[in-house]
Amino acid sequence: MVDRRMTRRTALKLSAAGAGLLVAGRYVPAAAQIPPLPKKDTYTVGFAQTGSNNPWRLGESKSMQDEAKRLGYTLVETNANEDTAKQIADVDSLIAQKVDILIFPPRESQALAPSVLKAKAAGIPVILIDRDVDHSIAKPGEDYITFIGSDFVDQGRRAAEWLVKATNGKAKIIELEGTTGADPAIERKKGFDEYLQGSFKGTPTPEGPYPDMEIIASQTGNFLRDTGREVMQTLLQAHPDVTAVYAHNDEMAIGAIAALQEAGRKPGEDVILVSIDGENAALDAIVDGTLGATVESSPFFGPIAFKTMQQYIDGEDIPDWVKVEDRFFDKSNAAEFQGKQF
Ligand code: AHR
Repeated sequence: MVDRRMTRRTALKLSAAGAGLLVAGRYVPAAAQIPPLPKKDTYTVGFAQTGSNNPWRLGESKSMQDEAKRLGYTLVETNANEDTAKQIADVDSLIAQKVDILIFPPRESQALAPSVLKAKAAGIPVILIDRDVDHSIAKPGEDYITFIGSDFVDQGRRAAEWLVKATNGKAKIIELEGTTGADPAIERKKGFDEYLQGSFKGTPTPEGPYPDMEIIASQTGNFLRDTGREVMQTLLQAHPDVTAVYAHNDEMAIGAIAALQEAGRKPGEDVILVSIDGENAALDAIVDGTLGATVESSPFFGPIAFKTMQQYIDGEDIPDWVKVEDRFFDKSNAAEFQGKQF
């Protein structure tokens, strides 16, 4: 019998022995539960990385490798080389290898959601780190253990808030978006746009709208430095009146700085830039004055991912979202953290 005070998540967990149970008067078959992870001396963990072509990804992979090594677990790692179809195939292969658990960042939120369901059907529990999947297809606490990551909407809000202050509420903005269909690209855009439109819901309540903060162009730079640079070169020709850049990550901001300098513009003076991540190169750019500020988005998921896995093994309650808190770097503190990030 299910205690009515129990959450659905707790009830599902308690039924992990295999039998179905009644939830809100409805019979839920055992197959609908997140697979259990029994106590063992060691584990084989599948880690399907999206790519290895930027410092953020390298920092995330190293963090996972270091923690797996510290615990004496085997980390079976794949690299999708920023190709969504390859990441889907990589997850299939890790499922076929019967890893004990899958921990990975889904490159695109809709495309990778069926992979989460496939793992569940194969009896392999999943923890998503850094990026989430579309909850209309796969749900945390029901289809996978949890999502561990930043509040991307709030990152966009914080970038917008800084930019409004830095430009006295008047700017012609080029936005360099992340990978199309990726959770951080969708949500960083949403938080930024909503803040400028005055429709952001959260605390503190923003004072907007800011009608003189105009987004004159918005295009994907795929979270990559070279692509950010090429896109900025093209957009600069069409929009020489640009006075600000919002890049969804530091790598694209650094690419944009190079493009602006090649075009004889002065990033940090006649074009103000803000981005997200907090990588070492971005802190250097803040110190040299070309980048204005960056909202941190930590890639160091190893310790928190394996701790959450242990909590699952121990039968503890895990929230649907294990939220990572991010710092903010600008000229007031960038020098203090130079060389200490990734
Ligand atoms: O998902 C997090 C984002 O992915 C980082 O901001 C970016 O640098 C990375 O490629």
